[in-house]
Amino acid sequence: MFKTIEWKNNNVVMIDQRLLPNEEVYRTYTDFLEVAEAIKEMVVRGAPAIGVAAAMGIALGASDIKAKERKGFVKAFEHICKIMASTRPTAVNLFWAIGRMKRIVKENPRLSANELKQRLVQEAKTIHKEDIEINRQMGRFGSKLIKNKSTILTHCNAGALATAGYGTALGVIRAAVEEGKKIKVFADETRPFLQGSRLTAWELMKDGIDTTLITDNMSGYMMKKGLIDAVIVGADRIAANGDVANKIGTYSVAVLAKEHEIPFYVAAPISTIDLKIKHGDKIPIEERNRREVTHIKGISIAPTGIKIKNPAFDVTPNRLVTAIITERGIARNPFEKSLKRLAEGK
Ligand code: MRU
Repeated sequence: MFKTIEWKNNNVVMIDQRLLPNEEVYRTYTDFLEVAEAIKEMVVRGAPAIGVAAAMGIALGASDIKAKERKGFVKAFEHICKIMASTRPTAVNLFWAIGRMKRIVKENPRLSANELKQRLVQEAKTIHKEDIEINRQMGRFGSKLIKNKSTILTHCNAGALATAGYGTALGVIRAAVEEGKKIKVFADETRPFLQGSRLTAWELMKDGIDTTLITDNMSGYMMKKGLIDAVIVGADRIAANGDVANKIGTYSVAVLAKEHEIPFYVAAPISTIDLKIKHGDKIPIEERNRREVTHIKGISIAPTGIKIKNPAFDVTPNRLVTAIITERGIARNPFEKSLKRLAEGK
């Protein structure tokens, strides 16, 4: 089985997701700036995986801080965190992970620079380990919603590649399969970056899960034909009212699911819920490079100079969401109440 991200010999090792499914290349990062660049360039992507990468990148950067006294250490550490925070704006797990790393420094004023370095590495490893456990727990809750012999549509990649392992949306599917349910999956290809065809199709096939790849514009037809029983997607940020930011195209799928009375489930860890943001329209949406739309593998597929829009995410309003699956249980409408209760651990 592949490993999405790993702390190995005091370096960060990540599978280069840009090259999948054709090449399985693992890259070793020795410098936090390289990790920040890898997040920006989508070597690693997917909200929880970005969080883990940021934490490991910060641990890597902190290990190289020269300052021996606290003031100098904290200044350099803050600079590293700031660079990590500037990589991608939408997935809140990035900021959540940075917050956890900052807390280690803040809550341990008496530790020496060397002790802090060790504690930061430990925290990054803990975030990694916890993420896998969280996904397994989400899988246990989520699989209860999945009927035997269902066909599930998923969008983008919310799998092992988007997390430390197992996955959120794909974790629910994996858990249902492990329970012995007969599950089929339809994977949207997910233009423009093709996370569905390159990543979801790849990792589900590796697991021997029955997967059919479709282009994004085919899902309505499949639903109308009665071929889809449920939709499960991940999330990059969930507002306090249950509005869900996820990969561009998710909103269209949710509208189609509503029209066809198909349940639309979101699987995401508590760290994806941003109670500070009341409504989805306040979630920052990343706009990515025009070349993702105009080119495929370096080949132009559009006239030179054409105007382009490339928002990487959209927001699905809460009224289209049947339930949100977390590691602490399942939230349903009214989401203001159910999400707050779960996020606050009540
Ligand atoms: O741009 P990406 O590939 O980072 O976007 C990923 C997604 O939108 C995923 O669906 C989301 O992060 C959930 S991953 C468990």
